[in-house]
Amino acid sequence: MPVYSSESFDFVSRSPDQTRRIGARLGALLRSGDVLALSGDLGAGKTQLVRGLARGLGVTTRVHSPTFTLVNEYSGGRLKLFHLDLYRLETPDQIHSAGIEEFLQPDGVAVIEWAERLENGRWKVEDGKFRKVTIEVISETERRIIYEDSGA
Ligand SMILES: Nc1ncnc2c1ncn2[C@@H]1O[C@H](COP(=O)(O)OP(=O)(O)OP(=O)(O)O)[C@@H](O)[C@H]1O
Ligand SMILES: [Mg+2]
Repeated sequence: MPVYSSESFDFVSRSPDQTRRIGARLGALLRSGDVLALSGDLGAGKTQLVRGLARGLGVTTRVHSPTFTLVNEYSGGRLKLFHLDLYRLETPDQIHSAGIEEFLQPDGVAVIEWAERLENGRWKVEDGKFRKVTIEVISETERRIIYEDSGA
């Protein structure tokens, strides 16, 4: 397990539980206003990571991806957690009319699944506004988790 404060890391997780534990460590480090952009294929493990993140923030409610709403909000932890999943927002119009802005300067922490979709709109995930996590599927149980702290 990597030790990290505000640096970047690149780590291979060998189980969903390990991915959740990495999420929990990250969750313990996040500060109010942080936005974590998650990228990776279907089934990569983004939601598993968010479950850990919630735990690391002290949220005890079970985390489910928002499906019919843009965002799920979890309070009760050290900071409020806003969980967005942009999978269904495929076109620039859909992205622009979704009302994402307020969650990019959150009163708490925002974590965004399918953050790549932001690039269909006016946002650049590379521009230093976001902390970035990319999950790559290596095998059935292995995931490469790359965290880039832009220093934002
Ligand atoms: N090392 C691992 N880390 C995370 N998940 C893993 C790992 N190995 C296997 N898995 C499995 O991969 C799946 C990850 O599902 P999850 O819902 O977290 O993906 P996701 O990236 O959120 O997908 P989606 O884009 O559909 O929202 C789970 O079924 C989980 O059990
Ligand atoms: Mg998911």
